[in-house]
Amino acid sequence: MSAEERRLPVVGRHGDGPSDQNGGVGGGVGTGSTRPDPRRLSEGWVHRFVAAGARADEMIALYRELGFEVVADPVLTHDLEDGCVVCFSGGGEPYRSIYTRKAEQAGTERSNQEIPMAEMNPTQVLREEHEQILQVAGALEEVLAEAASDAVYDRIGKCIRFIRLFADACHHGKEEDLLFPALEDEGLPHDTGPIAVMLHEHRLGRQFASAMAESIDAARSGDAVARRRLLRAGHDYVGLIRNHILKEDNVLFNMADQLVVGPRCKRLCAAYDETTSHTFDGCAKRELEELGREIVSGV
Ligand SMILES: [Fe+2]
Ligand SMILES: [Fe+2]
Repeated sequence: MSAEERRLPVVGRHGDGPSDQNGGVGGGVGTGSTRPDPRRLSEGWVHRFVAAGARADEMIALYRELGFEVVADPVLTHDLEDGCVVCFSGGGEPYRSIYTRKAEQAGTERSNQEIPMAEMNPTQVLREEHEQILQVAGALEEVLAEAASDAVYDRIGKCIRFIRLFADACHHGKEEDLLFPALEDEGLPHDTGPIAVMLHEHRLGRQFASAMAESIDAARSGDAVARRRLLRAGHDYVGLIRNHILKEDNVLFNMADQLVVGPRCKRLCAAYDETTSHTFDGCAKRELEELGREIVSGV
């Protein structure tokens, strides 16, 4: 069975609920919402993101597991850039500005500009695909809230197709077959830590997509139980994929950008291109991207 076949027709048991499956963590994450501390940068720290609560703790733990030093500075009012005060005001747990640096750099002052840059970026394509996936997830969330109609079920059906072919076969396929093995070559473990977490979440996403696919026809014909299952699986998927992409963009992909450089990065990007030339259930990537645009525009 090929890697593509392994992903496309996955049928799994539906999860037990959105909160436990999606992590159930509080707090939020933002990037670029504060001015990085020049003193930190001069000491070799890289500013990663601003976060609060359990989500910040989760990401800090992931970075430490990957061998990075982490500091979490409190976000002060004078650190905020124009227009960001509202984001950081009000109740809830305090936001922290997260910086990392490789453990072996500790005590070695160097400028941020001295960090080796990849000739090509090993995550750029994947980050761009994340944007497309998030847009469709937002459209799915909207359509799930609409009253039942043939047009609504048609749009949900398009979302399921996009999720299975673009988000899973095309996008997760590149992560599982190319990026994650490249990171394992750099020393990251397969069975524990962030790669294991990402693989687990890919499997959950397949279960949610399967639950949607299995229930949509009965829901369309008026089966109330099937409709509830469809809605629950859809919301579970939206919550899962948002949290998953947040972790990849802010933790694992930042690691990849630092670890997979030079010739290894070139090989990885060439492999992405080769995978992108495939079709997924007969659809080219550009056709799936067009499907995503149709979904988002409400066509
Ligand atoms: Fe992923
Ligand atoms: Fe991803």
